[in-house]
Amino acid sequence: MQLLYPEEGGILINSNILQPMPLNPRLLNMPGFTRRQILEHYEVLYRGYVNKVNEIRKLLLSADRKAANATYSYFRGLKKGETYAMDGVILHELYFENLGGSGVATRGDLMRQIERDFGSYHAWLEDFKATGMAARGWAVLVYDRRSRRLINYLLDAHDHGVVQNTEAILVLDVYEHAYFIDYGTRKADYIEAFLDNVDWNVAEARWKKIKSY
Ligand SMILES: [Fe+2]
Repeated sequence: MQLLYPEEGGILINSNILQPMPLNPRLLNMPGFTRRQILEHYEVLYRGYVNKVNEIRKLLLSADRKAANATYSYFRGLKKGETYAMDGVILHELYFENLGGSGVATRGDLMRQIERDFGSYHAWLEDFKATGMAARGWAVLVYDRRSRRLINYLLDAHDHGVVQNTEAILVLDVYEHAYFIDYGTRKADYIEAFLDNVDWNVAEARWKKIKSY
């Protein structure tokens, strides 16, 4: 089979098949989250995006590129779906990866940068929570290479609101599927539970990597 995305070597095995990341078992024992909430999210939704990426990439192998059209075309539908599904995979992997911790913020370089760019941890926290409450999809703390500062960005969907040349440091899923089993409409309570389980070591490691290049 043709290798469409060889640059992704780490996550592509046996030609172009995307593999789901394993679920961290710690996520099944987090205070404030039931196993059912996490398993529905991981197994049905996240794995669903992985499967769709694979399905779309297979269909792209034979899609008619000569008929590509911006109003409607089969190729356009696949390319739109590819972006949405791949962003869905990436954002969920970042989200699950930065969960399962103690919720206690590390006193490292990332916190110093947060204090520099937001004034204080509490000012950042207030802005991040508000971003989560205002978003329909995601709240993401990113490093913006253009302005060389940290920013909380709002995404209403996986592929709607993404700002280029930024790098994710902390990802919060605020789609209703992320919390409705455990919290119903109490979105603010879910955001508090998320913050209580953030793995700041993961965020710190992402920051260290970002600053290394
Ligand atoms: Fe989600």
